[in-house]
Amino acid sequence: MGILVRYASLLPLTASTPPVNLEEGSTPLAALPRVGERLGIELWGKLEGCNPSGSFKDRGMVLAVAKALEDGAKALICASTGNTSASAASYAAAAGIPCFVLLPAGKVALGKLAQALMYGATVIAVRGNFDKALELARQAAAERGCAMVNSVNPYRLWGQRTGAWEICEALGDAPDWHAIPVGNAGNISAYWAGYTEYKRLGRAAKTPRMMGFQAEGAAPLVTGKPCPAPETVATAIRIGSPVSASLARAAVSESGGEFNSVTDEEILSAQRLLASLGGIFAEPASCAPLAGLVKLKAQNRLPEGIKVVMVLTGNGLKDPDTAMGQVGRPLEIGDSLDDLLGVMDNAARGAAR
Ligand code: F0G
Repeated sequence: MGILVRYASLLPLTASTPPVNLEEGSTPLAALPRVGERLGIELWGKLEGCNPSGSFKDRGMVLAVAKALEDGAKALICASTGNTSASAASYAAAAGIPCFVLLPAGKVALGKLAQALMYGATVIAVRGNFDKALELARQAAAERGCAMVNSVNPYRLWGQRTGAWEICEALGDAPDWHAIPVGNAGNISAYWAGYTEYKRLGRAAKTPRMMGFQAEGAAPLVTGKPCPAPETVATAIRIGSPVSASLARAAVSESGGEFNSVTDEEILSAQRLLASLGGIFAEPASCAPLAGLVKLKAQNRLPEGIKVVMVLTGNGLKDPDTAMGQVGRPLEIGDSLDDLLGVMDNAARGAAR
């Protein structure tokens, strides 16, 4: 069941909210014992890449689109580093309304671009960064009366609270730490709202420390000032002026958490670690939290034995170029068994060394 059904009583639905549903949410919370052992903690990954458009955005988008339809919207618009646009385009297609998506030209991972085009959105590449595209989208929404489905739309963050609720239900309580990548800063704010709500309702005994991780080249919440020219391999979080900065700051300070940054190199190495020790392929931005945990461990700032949930926000398949840039090529052989056994024995010798 989609989240509008699963969490109907906790979402702002009315009798006239259309039942939009792509079976989003209810994503697996996977134990990651081999990675956790390396870090000396109990580590869990919330596999948001299992959502229908491959990222956490579907949780907020389903509600934003349902409410837009309820209000009689005739078209959707958003700016995006890729995942919001894939999600918006997907729900617009399912609902049968047009969708305009504005992307920073040349800075969106291939899979996300393919998705928005395939779902049939009007895809517009803006020569400028995400922050500029967002400003344009807001202006165009006002001019043309389109429903804006970026996280400035309050229903987006409301829907995204469901991730925190699912975690509390799966674990029986909130974890000690909640580790999450931060770009436009909506998701960390939504998770914090979700955790505090569950505590208030008596559905969780505690709330976690909110640990937000940014890429070093796009870390306005770590440096405390906007970043005019954000740059990082984790294009999903290549954002210099987060819209939800103040909500995110409140989440971190109220929860006793922290913002930290990690380098591109640390992000890519965490991506390989997660894949090779955890069996999970997540996109680069999603690996910023693991990179951060590795770094905190090295600095003796990761308490032994704590329970940590990382939100693996997007599927690794969305960004094949970045992945191929850091792994080897297939071992190509002729079509003989001798060739095959030769490379297998070689690989086995390599693994034994
Ligand atoms: N991880 C992924 C995979 C994302 O796509 C994003 C944001 C984030 C983390 C950060 O979440 O913005 O709520 O702090 N992507 C947006 C987009 C900006 O346009 O797809 P945030």
